[in-house]
Amino acid sequence: MSALTDCLTIAELKELARRKVPKMFFDYADSGSWTESTYRSNEADFAKILFRQRVAVNMEGRSLKTDMLGQEVAMPVALAPTGLTGMQCADGEIKAAKAAEKFGVPFTLSTMSICSIEDIAENTSKPFWFQLYVMRDRAFIMRLIDRAKAAKCSALVLTMDLQILAQRHKDLRNGLSAPPKFTPKHIWQMATRPEWCLGMLGTNRRTFRNIVGHVESINDLGSLSEWNAAQFDPTLNWKDIAWVKERFGGKVIVKGVLDPEDAKLAVAHGADAVIVSNHGGRQLDSAPSSIRVLPEIVSEIGGKTEIYLDGGIRSGQDVLKALALGAKSTFIGRPFLYGLGAGGEAGVKHALDIIAKEMDITLALCGERDVCNFGAHNLYENGLMKR
Ligand SMILES: Cc1cc2nc3c(=O)[nH]c(=O)nc-3n(C[C@H](O)[C@H](O)[C@H](O)COP(=O)(O)O)c2cc1C
Repeated sequence: MSALTDCLTIAELKELARRKVPKMFFDYADSGSWTESTYRSNEADFAKILFRQRVAVNMEGRSLKTDMLGQEVAMPVALAPTGLTGMQCADGEIKAAKAAEKFGVPFTLSTMSICSIEDIAENTSKPFWFQLYVMRDRAFIMRLIDRAKAAKCSALVLTMDLQILAQRHKDLRNGLSAPPKFTPKHIWQMATRPEWCLGMLGTNRRTFRNIVGHVESINDLGSLSEWNAAQFDPTLNWKDIAWVKERFGGKVIVKGVLDPEDAKLAVAHGADAVIVSNHGGRQLDSAPSSIRVLPEIVSEIGGKTEIYLDGGIRSGQDVLKALALGAKSTFIGRPFLYGLGAGGEAGVKHALDIIAKEMDITLALCGERDVCNFGAHNLYENGLMKR
């Protein structure tokens, strides 16, 4: 597979990205915690769900359009927040945000991004979403929320499943850092990816720009890594939704819910939407896949709030399976990261195009014309094959 345009699937984009991104950053995207069993089951469980094929139905005038939190979207997909995205390729967050804006789907900037909130605001024209990690330094978090507000972010995504960081063996073995260390191993990894290096030489965005320069004690990179390790707040609880929401003054999406009881609590504490997610298999290993728990969560809070799903979506077919099981929309993490690594902004657009095309054709072959009508009736045996 040589060129971006030759890639027909997200899996092919992944292989192209593997060849273009230094190993430590490619591995950072392509990894889960410990045995990676949840990371694998997120993808594998989608394959167990079957569609109900219908024929001789008028297929003309199909639409993938829907809405998320009242905002019209070109298809039921948003870009998930991912840390260090600007290490998949230079200015990665800006490129992904531009691709999302042009396509008409929401982009979510991570707290742990390389490009800052202000960088994204300066390089886009429509509101984007900001993902918040609540940290012990509440004064910094208050300022961060204020910055998201000043940048006119239209929603905050509050991540609740990372009060403590799980272990990813690949990152430890690779000695992952941003910017990368200059050991012989790391220099070799970069030297074998010349296009990536050229891009990085052309930007000054190479560290966590939401943080550096915004926290008093952080003036060098040694203190930043110490700060990160100590900062994720283990005392985060449901009551925190209220002050975050009040400070932000807009919609708050709660991310990282995997249990019906937690889903109920999120709604009771004011979540405007919930993302059913296990952090892409990067936190609790041996937790169930997100698609597996989706129906239980829908039966608990369905109709009370919007429910989104992420984890393991690798095709437009997977998006439709999530919708059929009750999600209003979905988020993708790795699919857009692979696109970014494979081809920058054009690569993210290509990833979105692949997913849209797969979704459109599947919609037609299931006998539907409007993605908003896709439901349990479109699954073979109502999706019972999935277990
Ligand atoms: C490389 C990488 C970095 C991530 N960083 C964050 C982050 O900073 N904040 C967050 O809430 N979720 C983060 N996530 C989780 C994603 O938002 C999302 O839940 C997950 O990627 C969905 O699974 P998928 O990659 O299979 O689509 C990250 C995921 C990946 C792959």
